[in-house]
Amino acid sequence: MKMLSIKPEISRFEKFEEFASEFKIGQGDLVITHEFLFDEFMLPLKLEADFCFQEKYGGEPSDEMIDKISSEYKNEKCQRVFAIGGGSVIDIAKILVLKDVTNTLDVFEKKIPIIKDKELIVVPTTCGTGSEVTNISIAKIVSKETKMGLAVDELYPDYTAIIPELLLGLPFKYFAYSSIDALIHAVEAYVSPKANSFTELFSVKAIEMIIDGYVKIIEKGQEFRSEIIEDFLVASTFAGVAFGNAGVGAVHALSYPLGGKYGVPHGEANYQIFTGVFKVYNQKDPNGKIAKLNQLLADKLGVDNSEDIYDILETLLNKITTKKELRVYGMKEEEIDIFADGVIAGQQRLLANNYVELSRDEIAEIYRKLY
Ligand SMILES: [Fe+2]
Repeated sequence: MKMLSIKPEISRFEKFEEFASEFKIGQGDLVITHEFLFDEFMLPLKLEADFCFQEKYGGEPSDEMIDKISSEYKNEKCQRVFAIGGGSVIDIAKILVLKDVTNTLDVFEKKIPIIKDKELIVVPTTCGTGSEVTNISIAKIVSKETKMGLAVDELYPDYTAIIPELLLGLPFKYFAYSSIDALIHAVEAYVSPKANSFTELFSVKAIEMIIDGYVKIIEKGQEFRSEIIEDFLVASTFAGVAFGNAGVGAVHALSYPLGGKYGVPHGEANYQIFTGVFKVYNQKDPNGKIAKLNQLLADKLGVDNSEDIYDILETLLNKITTKKELRVYGMKEEEIDIFADGVIAGQQRLLANNYVELSRDEIAEIYRKLY
C-alpha cells in the first residue's frame, strides 16, 4: 500500500523577483494569475510571458471557464504553465497542462486520454488550498450544478514555490476562509481510513500550526497575521500533503452543492459544514481514531477533552470568521433532500474517505441541523 507521495520540488523565495529570475519566466510560458498580483509583482519585471487574469472569466473555476481560457490562450509553443494565485487559479492551470483540452467536461469524465504535455509550476497566494502539492483539480460542472474533482497523477505540479511576500496583501476574509480550509484538510485527512503514520505527521503539524496561529491573531489583532503568514502558508502545504495522500471526506462532499448551486466560496462553504459532520462522527464512533483527534484539539485549545470539543473549537473559529445558517446563502428547505441525494450520487470519491459511513438520511440530517 502506498503511504506517501510528494511529487513537486518545493522551494522558498524571499521575493517574487528572485523566483521569476530563477525560473526564467519568459516566452513560451503561460502565467495564470490575478491582475492585482500582476500589477504589483510581475509588471515591473517586464516578463515576456503570456498572462491570463483568472477573475476576467468569473469566480470559482467551471468547465465552461476552462474551455474559454483554453481556446483563447491556445499556443503550440507553450511549454510551461505557471499558476500564481489561489485554489481557482491552480485548478485551472492543472487542466491547461493537458494535451488537447477543448471540452473540460470530457476531461473530468475521463472520456478523452489524459496526457500531460507541459510543465506546471505552482505558487500559492492564499494559505488554504494545498493544491500546490496535490494531483487534484476541482471545477464546477455548469450543466450538473455541482462540483467535480479529477484526481490523476498527470495533475501533480512539477515545482512549487513558497513566497510569503505574495500573501501580505491578502484581505483578512480570504485569509480566514483559506486557512480554515487548510485546517479542515488536515482534520479530514487525519481521520480518513487512508491515513497512515506519514500523513498523520503532516496533519498533526498543520493542525497545531493553524490553531496556534489563530490564538496569536485573536490575542494580538488581525494585522498580526502578516508576521506569521509563512507559518500559515507552510501549514497549508503540510495539510495539502496530508489530504493529497489520505483524502478529504464528508465536509468537502457536503459543501460542494453549496458552492455549485449558490456560489459559496470553497473555504466558506466548508466551514459551514465542518463541525456539523464531526459532531456526528463523534456520536457514531467516539472511541476510534477521532478520540486521538479530540485529545489533540483539547490539548491545543487548553480545555478538557469532552463531548463538546467541536463547540469549543467553533467558538475559537468564530473569532476568525462567522458561521451562518445555510438558508442565509439562499438554500431552500426542500433542497435538504435534493442535496443529500446529490452527494450520495456524485461524491462517492470523497465519501470513501469518511471516518465512519454516513447514510443518505444522516447526511440529510446534517444539512437540516445546519439549515
Ligand atoms: Fe478544501
